[in-house]
Amino acid sequence: MNRTQPPEGTNHSDHYDRMAGMYDLFLEPLVRRIRTDIQSWIQSQEPQAVLDVCCGTGKQMSYFPEDFPVWGVDLSSAMLSQARRQTHGQCVRGDATRLPFPNQKFDIVLSQFALHEKDRTTLKAELVDIARVLRPGGRLAVLDFAEPKGHTLLNRFFRWGIRQIEKHAGEEHFINYQDWMSRGGLAQVLPDLGWTPETERRYYRENLAWIVFRSTP
Ligand SMILES: C[S@@+](CC[C@H](N)C(=O)[O-])C[C@H]1O[C@@H](n2cnc3c(N)ncnc32)[C@H](O)[C@@H]1O
Repeated sequence: MNRTQPPEGTNHSDHYDRMAGMYDLFLEPLVRRIRTDIQSWIQSQEPQAVLDVCCGTGKQMSYFPEDFPVWGVDLSSAMLSQARRQTHGQCVRGDATRLPFPNQKFDIVLSQFALHEKDRTTLKAELVDIARVLRPGGRLAVLDFAEPKGHTLLNRFFRWGIRQIEKHAGEEHFINYQDWMSRGGLAQVLPDLGWTPETERRYYRENLAWIVFRSTP
């Protein structure tokens, strides 16, 4: 597989390049508690190497202590320059479908809010490469949109709110989000692709799921 990365400055992530300066201001107040939960679980596993795929501004990475062994990879130069400012982890520009890391380097791979926006082909390619860089027995920990199990008014209200946000993220992004949800969201899509869920937590009236998966055999 060709692991040559797109040159710095090409327009692969225009949308994120434009919003890099505002991203944390908008999102962080909504997800601080979740990021803290993720950080506690990751640290409790005492990993030797963790990768945040599509790390964006590196906010999740910034929750770890200075000497924590964490790497981040993202396509957007603007998001990465925020990341390099706020985390001590190593931030690398690269494509999640051709990760610039050797086989079996990581104990844990993280992905937050990044899988639902990919088309099916890209998503599959990304998961294949994540499996490649995970050591045997490694874990993939994903935070992403899920179908609520209950159908109360409040569950549906949050689902509607997320849909409005996704509508403003660009046409292709929204189409992929709709496809992701039509396939049952995180709790369904990854198991259908062969990933085994181990633990699951829900947030925002079950509309957001954080699930730890075992790597494919
Ligand atoms: C919604 S942001 C998520 C940022 C971060 N994970 C967080 O928790 O806030 C999605 C990120 O995925 C990146 N991205 C999209 N496609 C990518 C790809 N194929 N390879 C690497 N990064 C990609 C974008 O540049 C953007 O920073």
